[in-house]
Parts: sequence; structure tokens; C-alpha cells
Amino acid sequence: MAKSLVSISDLEKNEIKEIIRRAGELKDLKKREESPKSLKGMSVGLLFEKQSTRTRISFESGLFDLGAQAIYMNPSDTQIGRGETIADTAKILSSYLDGIIIRTYGQEKALELAENSTVPVINALTDLEHPTQIISDLFSVSEQGIDPEKFKLAFLGDGNNIANSFVAASAIMGFELSVAVPPGNEPSPTIMGEAKELGNSEIEVTCDPAAAVRDADVIYTDVWVSMGEEGKGTKVFSPFQVNERLLSSCHRKPLIMHCLPAHRGEEITAEVMDSPRCIAFTQAENKLHVGKAILEFCLQP
Ligand code: CP
Ligand code: NVA
Repeated sequence: MAKSLVSISDLEKNEIKEIIRRAGELKDLKKREESPKSLKGMSVGLLFEKQSTRTRISFESGLFDLGAQAIYMNPSDTQIGRGETIADTAKILSSYLDGIIIRTYGQEKALELAENSTVPVINALTDLEHPTQIISDLFSVSEQGIDPEKFKLAFLGDGNNIANSFVAASAIMGFELSVAVPPGNEPSPTIMGEAKELGNSEIEVTCDPAAAVRDADVIYTDVWVSMGEEGKGTKVFSPFQVNERLLSSCHRKPLIMHCLPAHRGEEITAEVMDSPRCIAFTQAENKLHVGKAILEFCLQP
């Protein structure tokens, strides 16, 4: 049944595992220049209120691969830009489209769109969450031979949308998570509370980056200043930079991950970012294959 994906918590473990499995199939098919036209004849709108390179283009290209049409909507070119409500917009777009992909600020806006749409809505990033990124990253982890249910991920930097979605994903999948952030930059208390209630995994929030990475299989970082936070100070984040000195405190040889865009010299050094242990560009490619698996999961009747 067609369903929305507003939060990663909308999914159960088996559903995430199925998306990961299907993404592998779609990636193999793409390498053979084949793609099933599983969404043939569908139209999907992309409403992006923030910039995007990877998410938007991979969804647009993925929709084409699957036989569907992508319609990009710049909010300022639509009546939303002149104050038409999200609820009215949702009703109208539902009568033209088979699905809507939204990137916006407040999570409540994505929720409101989903609640008032009769077609599935996919969250392509809000201030609170980035569910499609984290599902894609779990695929990238599994592709490296790591069991996405049994590994330790250390997230360093800001307790932002990526960190929040990892907290929720850890509670669903069961992998161990250590989030190392400067005091006052912790992940969302609501998402932390929900994860604790599920009680499926070990989630630690610390301000000691060396302790977080010590026995990690994967070290993950993201920008210190997310979209919409321009002007925020970054000085407090400098001890959380992923650099060779920090990596020397690891017991294992962890994979380095970054959702991109990267700011070399801030959250990660150029040396680490451009080293073979960093799989950021593979992560970016995988957004295409996983995005297609998510589209099939959400849109197929
Ligand atoms: N990782 C990611 O979401 O990138 P974009 O902002 O370019 O879509
Ligand atoms: N935390 C970043 C992620 C970008 C993909 C942001 O929201 O800008």
C-alpha cells in the first residue's frame, strides 16, 4: 500500500531492510543499464524550499529511470510563495500528482502536507530529520560488509537533522550509536525520548569525541552550520573535527562517512575526506539507488 515517509520512525525494521535489499537490486540493474519501469505513467512533484544537489537530482533522475515524470516546484514560483496554505496546496497537488517530495524547514510543515494529501509524501530533509539520507547511508554501510543492525556508529559535530535521524534509526535497527557534540548542541530531546522508550539500542550522547570514536566501526560527520542556521558560531565545534589525530585514538580502522556537502577544514580535514577510508562519494551515488527503492516502496500501490 502506498505510504508517506515523513520520519524514519514511520518505518519498521523489516521495511528498512527490504528497501536496502531492493536498492542493491536496483544498483546492479543500473550498472547493466537496465531499470524496471515500475512507476510508469506516474507524476511526482518536488517542492524544495532549501538548496539541494544530491537529493533533488537523484530523485529526479531516479523517477526518470523508473518511468515516472518529476516536476520541480520552486515554492517562490508557486502560490505558496504568496501565502496559499500548505493544507490547500496538498489537496490541489494530490489531484495532479502521484506523490510529493518536500524539503522544508519545519517538520510540522512536511507533516501537514502529508496529513492533507491523498498521495504519499516523502521528506527530503527538514530542520529535524533527513530520513532518506539515513536509509541510504545504512545501505552504504551494508554494502561495505557491515551488518546495519550490529555495528557502532560515532556521529561527531552538531546534533542536527542527520544526528536526529541516526538516533531514530538506531532505535529501530538496533545498532549502537555514540553522538559526540559540544554541550548545548545535543540531538532533539523528543527524538531521544522516543528512542529510549523503544529501548532497542545503546545510544550515548557525550562531549568527548575521542571516547565516542574509540571502538567505532563508522565515524560520521556533517556540517556544523545547517541550512537555515547561517551566522551561527562554529568555535565550539573545533574539538569535534574528524582529523588524523582523532583517528589515531581509534581501536579499529573505521569507515568515514559524510552526507555532503563537506566543508574541508571545518568538520573534516581534506586529508581524511579525500582518503580511501572515506566513502562520502559512494554514499552520494547510493542516494540514486536507495531513492528509487524508497520511491517504489512509497508509491507502488
Ligand atoms: N546529502 C544531501 O542531502 O545533499 P543535498 O543537500 O545536496 O541534497
Ligand atoms: N545538516 C545539513 C544536511 C545537509 C544535507 C543541513 O541541514 O544543511
